[in-house]
Amino acid sequence: MKSRNLVLAALFSVSVLGSAAFAQQKDGDGKKIFEANKCTMCHSLKAEKIEATGKSKAPDLSTVGAKQKPEWIEKFLKKNEKLEGKQHPMAFKGTDAELKTLASWLASHKK
Ligand code: HEC
Repeated sequence: MKSRNLVLAALFSVSVLGSAAFAQQKDGDGKKIFEANKCTMCHSLKAEKIEATGKSKAPDLSTVGAKQKPEWIEKFLKKNEKLEGKQHPMAFKGTDAELKTLASWLASHKK
């Protein structure tokens, strides 16, 4: 009986700690996701001291939040939304959770 309780306690703490870690996946991670998905090949985000590494004419995203809502950015990055009649050149390849974090992080950049 005792060892069973220990197992239950262990399972419980794993799930509690696990969800705490998940809840902590906040805006700081948006930057990591942005960099990990090579958005920086085309976009700079000067407000975060990020320079574009390629020669694309893609816009700087430092003030994108003044223009776009997180929901719009999520759809746009899945190619379910257009900007001036055009789809985004690449579809986001990460998970939905990453996309959410990334979109709300981007939308927090307003000036
Ligand atoms: C191959 C180059 C390229 C890559 C890589 C790229 N983008 Fe873009 N992105 C563009 C271009 C070009 C536009 C502008 C499209 C237009 O004006 O029609 C754009 C537009 C955007 C916009 C809308 C900006 C606005 O002014 O409304 C957002 C948001 C955006 N990109 C986010 C991202 C994110 C996040 C990533 C990484 C997951 C990414 N982009 C990767 C080229 C790129």
